[in-house]
Amino acid sequence: MPLLTNVASVFGALSLGYLSWSIFWRLSNLQRLPPGPPKNLIFGNLLDIPKHNAWEKFQKDSCELGSDIICYQYFGKILVVLNSYQAAVDLFGKKSAVYSGRPRYVMMGELLGWNCSFSNFQEPDRLWQRHRKILHESFNASDIDWFQNKQTAAAELLVKMIRQSPQDFLEHISRAVSSMMLDITYGLDLSSDNDLYMDLVSEASASFRAAVDGGFLVDFFPILKYIPGWVPGSAGFQLKVKEWRCSRENMFDKPFEAAKDFLHDSLRTQNFFVSMGLHHDKANETDIQTVIRDIAGTIILGSVDTMTALLTNFFLAMMTHPEVQRRAQQEIDGVIACNGFPKFSDLNSMPYIQALVLELLRWRQVVPTGIPHSLLEDDRYKGFLIPKGTILVANAWAMSHDENDYNNPLEFKPERFLASKNRTEYERDPRTFVFGFGRRYCPGKYISQSTLAIFVATILTSFDIQPDESHPPLFEYKSSFLRQPKAFPCKIKARNF
Ligand code: HEM
Repeated sequence: MPLLTNVASVFGALSLGYLSWSIFWRLSNLQRLPPGPPKNLIFGNLLDIPKHNAWEKFQKDSCELGSDIICYQYFGKILVVLNSYQAAVDLFGKKSAVYSGRPRYVMMGELLGWNCSFSNFQEPDRLWQRHRKILHESFNASDIDWFQNKQTAAAELLVKMIRQSPQDFLEHISRAVSSMMLDITYGLDLSSDNDLYMDLVSEASASFRAAVDGGFLVDFFPILKYIPGWVPGSAGFQLKVKEWRCSRENMFDKPFEAAKDFLHDSLRTQNFFVSMGLHHDKANETDIQTVIRDIAGTIILGSVDTMTALLTNFFLAMMTHPEVQRRAQQEIDGVIACNGFPKFSDLNSMPYIQALVLELLRWRQVVPTGIPHSLLEDDRYKGFLIPKGTILVANAWAMSHDENDYNNPLEFKPERFLASKNRTEYERDPRTFVFGFGRRYCPGKYISQSTLAIFVATILTSFDIQPDESHPPLFEYKSSFLRQPKAFPCKIKARNF
């Protein structure tokens, strides 16, 4: 009996010890999450994350909390924001194997079907590797010649359209970029009437942005996705899902079907992504059509809005920085022949244009908080616990405004990236963070830069861009994770040419 009592008390003591240790461990870990603003009893920190310009609030909270890594908690989710370049490199870069997941998006990914795009694949698994490899092989730095003709043609098309109706320059930018990407991806001819496909792209992209920005309840409570349409109050939502899903499907299917028809057209050149992709992976015929269709749709999703927003920022920058415009034009005039448009080979002799492109990437970032990552295993950083499943964003806006890296970061100053007698150090190259980090870095990095460079040089060869004195630019942006400038007027005059 005493033996049994002893065993029971030892067992009891051990259980109590284990229980207290486990409570202590959990509590101490909870305390060791990165710092964050005080939480509301019901909403946690949800109300601390504004819908507009969240990146500015993240930077402000980071300063107030004295930590470059900060944390927000709401409805069982943990969001960690990395506000310095170093923190993003340490986690997304050096520990890429565990920091390369993507969060679950019920509305955008599951209900609308954007999960077929590898940018939303939650795990960086074999399928993700396959998609990425195929895209990368067509768009890597050493093999970008095949689409240079299409880029110069699109830049010249933009000049032609602006000459015809300068007041519609914003529409023309978006048109030139989408037709260039439809040509590169599907072989859809720039000169023919591609309105149908451009409309499909703009409808689908608008619904994608609305789904990501919308803050839909179903993203907080996924169970809601099973509520049928006949339940009172849910019919409108179901209708919206149906309509948006349909626009996503149209954008993926219709141009792909057109591209497949071109494969049998001996009069067409076959240098477009779908053609190259379908020939590339012949060994794996069973699903290759789906794979190439989904990568092609992903290319359009990733490219059109980002590059349109950047080129629109370019017009804003030129209107407000005449000295930069003059210097760029002087450089161009010294390099290219009279009455000609710049060619890619000319760009190597244009260091100021190259610097201007870098400054465009840095200034007024188009994807200020990047695309969120998620953590695949528990990790520790600077003594803080970051639990598995945490959503993480790298605040690229904070990085581009870091006064340790940039002198007067709010100013548009391409010179910061140029060698000069007085300069001993260059300011940080924005390409090291605006395209993301680690395994998930943007595979469109090289085509974006070359597109920007040829468009900038071609536009400045052809036009002087000036503000409309009666409507000074307000620098207003649409509220979205993608930072697109709101429409603004601008005076565009043809140069003697
Ligand atoms: C200047 C324009 C662009 C900017 C600023 C930009 C920025 C970014 C950023 C910040 C990410 C997230 C990286 C990360 O998660 O760490 C990303 C991912 C991605 N971008 Fe871009 N991007 C641009 C153009 C393009 C273009 C032209 C394409 C297509 C050719 C593209 C395709 C993608 C894809 C597919 C991903 C997801 C990669 C993955 O999840 O594995 N982007 N981009």
